[in-house]
Amino acid sequence: MAMLTVNHPESPEEFEEYYDLRWRVLREPWGQPRGSEKDEFDPVADHVSVRDQEGKLIGIGRLHLNNDREAQIRYMATEEDVRGFGTGRVIIARLEAIAKERGVHRITLNARENIVGFYEHLGYRVTGEGPTMFHEIRHSKMKKEL
Ligand SMILES: CC(C)(COP(=O)(O)OP(=O)(O)OC[C@H]1O[C@@H](n2cnc3c(N)ncnc32)[C@H](O)[C@@H]1OP(=O)(O)O)[C@@H](O)C(=O)NCCC(=O)NCCS
Repeated sequence: MAMLTVNHPESPEEFEEYYDLRWRVLREPWGQPRGSEKDEFDPVADHVSVRDQEGKLIGIGRLHLNNDREAQIRYMATEEDVRGFGTGRVIIARLEAIAKERGVHRITLNARENIVGFYEHLGYRVTGEGPTMFHEIRHSKMKKEL
């Protein structure tokens, strides 16, 4: 895919767009209200956003530290019409770079069952069973040593 810009939401408007994409992809399809897409780590986490050549926000992801040796990726989402063209890979690469900048060399995450293959592609491996969300979305725990 041509000309992706990777950056971080900063202004209130950019954060509004960012959380809107997170909600639309990861919460709305399961009938969850706006606000349910946020958690207590958001004020201190690293947020990554990717825009296309027209400046449209097409992908997002977040990294937070679980402790001084381990970071966790959450809330990966790309717009449905761009999937499979490399946006997710770009987001993960940036989140991994941020983890290293912060001195952390292990990343964990809970992958939705149908997305495990995406993370395997990028070097993550399944370490066990994760939580079930909204009574239906099963997760696998995954890990990568950077
Ligand atoms: C997961 C998600 C962010 C991936 O984004 P994407 O932009 O499609 O990812 P990419 O195009 O960079 O994919 C990278 C590679 O993984 C592969 N891949 C992508 N999704 C995959 C999947 N579900 N299963 C197996 N492989 C997958 C791609 O084919 C690509 O392979 P290639 O580099 O050999 O061509 C996107 O599918 C999404 O938003 N899904 C819905 C929300 C969601 O479930 N988020 C994750 C919650 S854990």
